[in-house]
Amino acid sequence: MKSLIARCSDINSQYCPCLLAETNHCVFCTKLQGTNTCECNWSGICIMYEKHWKEKMKNNKTGSSVRLAYESSVLSKTQVGAQTYLFEILTDQVLADKLNVIGSFVFLRRTNDIESFYFPVGVVKVIDNKISVIVEGIGAKSQRFLSNSDDDLIIKGPYFNGVLGKPWIDNIMDGKILLVAGGIGQAPALPIIKKLMENKNTITAIVAPGKVGNVFIGDLLEKNDVLLHTVTSLRKVGFPKLRELIMENNDVIVSAGPDGQHSAIIRLMNEIGVNIPMVATNNATMCCGEGICGSCHKLIQDNKIVKMCKVQTEYKTIMQD
Ligand code: FES
Repeated sequence: MKSLIARCSDINSQYCPCLLAETNHCVFCTKLQGTNTCECNWSGICIMYEKHWKEKMKNNKTGSSVRLAYESSVLSKTQVGAQTYLFEILTDQVLADKLNVIGSFVFLRRTNDIESFYFPVGVVKVIDNKISVIVEGIGAKSQRFLSNSDDDLIIKGPYFNGVLGKPWIDNIMDGKILLVAGGIGQAPALPIIKKLMENKNTITAIVAPGKVGNVFIGDLLEKNDVLLHTVTSLRKVGFPKLRELIMENNDVIVSAGPDGQHSAIIRLMNEIGVNIPMVATNNATMCCGEGICGSCHKLIQDNKIVKMCKVQTEYKTIMQD
């Protein structure tokens, strides 16, 4: 099976070189990590060159390499599950255009809250200058966000590393996909499903309500001819079903849900001896999204630490706590 080359999700975007390159902690350029050799495996851009020579347009919404905060407003709020709401938000057109890719996410806070209240949330849909996100009230930040009924909010973005194994989704056409979605994992599954359908892939899905208590993507999946198995619990019913489906020559498996779900799928594949590419939602705790704060760091094989807000890597390489 081909494997993915770990790379930064900001490369080739206007957000590279970033603050890490400025501080000699670039996750990709070995020279910008303080070594004397170049081992970057040319990706179409020399970050070293960009850092030293290219003029970046500063303080300009279209050219700034720093992510900006945009005043935005809630157009609608719809409950889709227990403590879980779908928001349609009117925002800046330039920001919305950049968010129209798999794995994009933003940081949100209410206008009157201080910066510490920013929390990350995946973008599930973009139409013109309107974006949709699904927020589950599970912690101090998201609950505070939900408890405020103002329409005004601040969005910081765009960020791109919400899905690990994204190239598998971007590149597969006419393939056979097995999708497992649990609870709030249904939200990041939505743009993945849309992209897979556009590329004429066939999808079989196992979906469980989880703590959200509702399979809110069921109608959409059925409308798009996805073969849907709705189960009350992935652990009790979903995994025995998955065991059957996983042996049916799938091209890619997608796990949208908590890390425990990703790990259980990997164990199942190892047990059965199935080795196919896996796409997994990125559940790392994130505070800055810029590779600086350290909250998202994970240990992977070879004893390396990766910044999950930046680096595309295979979920199976992450060492479990
Ligand atoms: S979220 Fe701060 S380093 Fe990744």
